[in-house]
Amino acid sequence: MESQKSSSNSQFVIAPSILSADFACLGKEVQDVLVAGADWIHFDVMDNHYVPNLTIGPLVCEAIRPYANKDGKPAVIDVHLMIEPVDRIVPDFAKAGANLISFHPEASPHVNRTLNLIRDQGCQAGLVLNPATPLDHLEHTLELLDLVLLMSVNPGFGGQSFIPSTLNKIAQVRTRLDRYQAETGRHIRLEVDGGIKVDNIAEVARAGADTFVAGSAIYAQENYAKVIQAMRTELGKSGKA
Ligand code: DX5
Ligand code: ZN
Repeated sequence: MESQKSSSNSQFVIAPSILSADFACLGKEVQDVLVAGADWIHFDVMDNHYVPNLTIGPLVCEAIRPYANKDGKPAVIDVHLMIEPVDRIVPDFAKAGANLISFHPEASPHVNRTLNLIRDQGCQAGLVLNPATPLDHLEHTLELLDLVLLMSVNPGFGGQSFIPSTLNKIAQVRTRLDRYQAETGRHIRLEVDGGIKVDNIAEVARAGADTFVAGSAIYAQENYAKVIQAMRTELGKSGKA
């Protein structure tokens, strides 16, 4: 898949979060946003336990899978698990067609085991760090990661404001991932989630992110293509493209 092929951070990915889509016509919403120029589908799973909200699970992932295509090929379904516990449900998401599964280290007592489980199921694996979660969690996990997801809001709801201190955190992770790539040749994506808009995406890219989740910024607009194009124009101006 794409994140394995890419060898540098110059390949930007825009991943709309369907949390802000119209759930009454989710298949069409997935199709429309990919036709409009999005790269991945970001799939937010909340359990009213790890986070105070309840959303969608493997059945819905399976239902949208046939609609998640880009240029005639399956697009990445990027599953963000905000649930506790994690392990029981991972195989269900793999069977439902998820390509990438990320979880929060606080929600799994055995992070290494969960990462291996995700990979054994044929998916790529990501670790998600909340605004107040330290970067120490990357210390012994990088070799099992395909993606680091930094939350730029506290997880649970769409439509929140970007927390500015995330920029410094992104820069620190960028340095760490660049060092890791120089040592191993392996590229790990750096995704940012929460409050990403046309007017801050370039700044987030300049800090070092290469993958951008945007829910309300895209789905609240009438014209998805226009906002995604505006984001790409901003990314082009970031000096990182
Ligand atoms: C928050 C979710 C995000 C969120 C993004 O818990 O993980 O993916 O839906 O929504 P916006 O872009 O509206 O902040
Ligand atoms: Zn998310």
